[in-house]
Amino acid sequence: MIMDRHEEIQMIRKLAEARAEAEERDMPDEEPYVLFENVRKVYHVGEVDIEALADASFSVRKGELAVVVGESGAGKTTLLNILGGMDTLTSGRAVLDGREISKMNTRELTNYRRYDIGFVFQFYNLVQNLTALENVSLATQICKDPLDPRETLKAVGLEERMNNFPGQLSGGEQQRVAIARALAKNPKLLLCDEPTGALDYVTGKQILQLLQDQARNMGTTVIIITHNKAITPMADRVISVRSGRVQSIEVNRKPLPISEIEW
Ligand SMILES: Nc1ncnc2c1ncn2[C@@H]1O[C@H](COP(=O)(O)OP(=O)(O)O)[C@@H](O)[C@H]1O
Ligand SMILES: [Mg+2]
Repeated sequence: MIMDRHEEIQMIRKLAEARAEAEERDMPDEEPYVLFENVRKVYHVGEVDIEALADASFSVRKGELAVVVGESGAGKTTLLNILGGMDTLTSGRAVLDGREISKMNTRELTNYRRYDIGFVFQFYNLVQNLTALENVSLATQICKDPLDPRETLKAVGLEERMNNFPGQLSGGEQQRVAIARALAKNPKLLLCDEPTGALDYVTGKQILQLLQDQARNMGTTVIIITHNKAITPMADRVISVRSGRVQSIEVNRKPLPISEIEW
């Protein structure tokens, strides 16, 4: 069967919805796209052991937008870094698309970060002496099947700013470049660590809308980390973390557009 991109996206979303429904009825399912199983992470600092994750389990379906919410120190960044192949776990299992991240060696992890993961950070982390377009192009040079950097920048609303340096852009625009850079890699998973943490209210909302649209319209699997409980109605799935444990997982059958959320 030959599908165009739009049909493919519709199908991914329909599948995600059907699976979420099956899950609500407590039906067994195939292994989920993203899986965290009894993950424990202990940092050793001098003589002290710090348990950042005690026993964290959750799953995310392909094409979903998931929000991981919890107070500062709950273990959110640790969780995202393990999922992104930037940190290792002490025990348990982490899986993306049938591949166990927690079993990868250093070289496999390098490739995993390169090809499979798009990362968006709170403070954008752009290269200051490269233009917006060059920042995005640079990231695509190490990928297998990247998207066109210009098209990607256009899609995040920066058609007119491609040749500006980060210092010439507002915070919201810089974050759009960072999102374009992550998306242009055409990753399996987009991970965002407090992506609106450095932005004002209105700009933050625009960035969240962009991320929600990306999951809705493009079928990208997106995980956003936040300490802001108020934004959870935007998500297909809400994973609440506290003291290194997953406290609850809620599936939103009708996620709200950002414009309908106030905080
Ligand atoms: N590299 C590290 N070394 C030692 N302790 C760490 C490290 N990273 C995080 N921690 C500790 O683990 C706990 C969880 O941190 P983190 O995952 O950053 O939480 P959050 O992102 O929810 O604020 C905190 O107590 C933090 O101090
Ligand atoms: Mg954090």
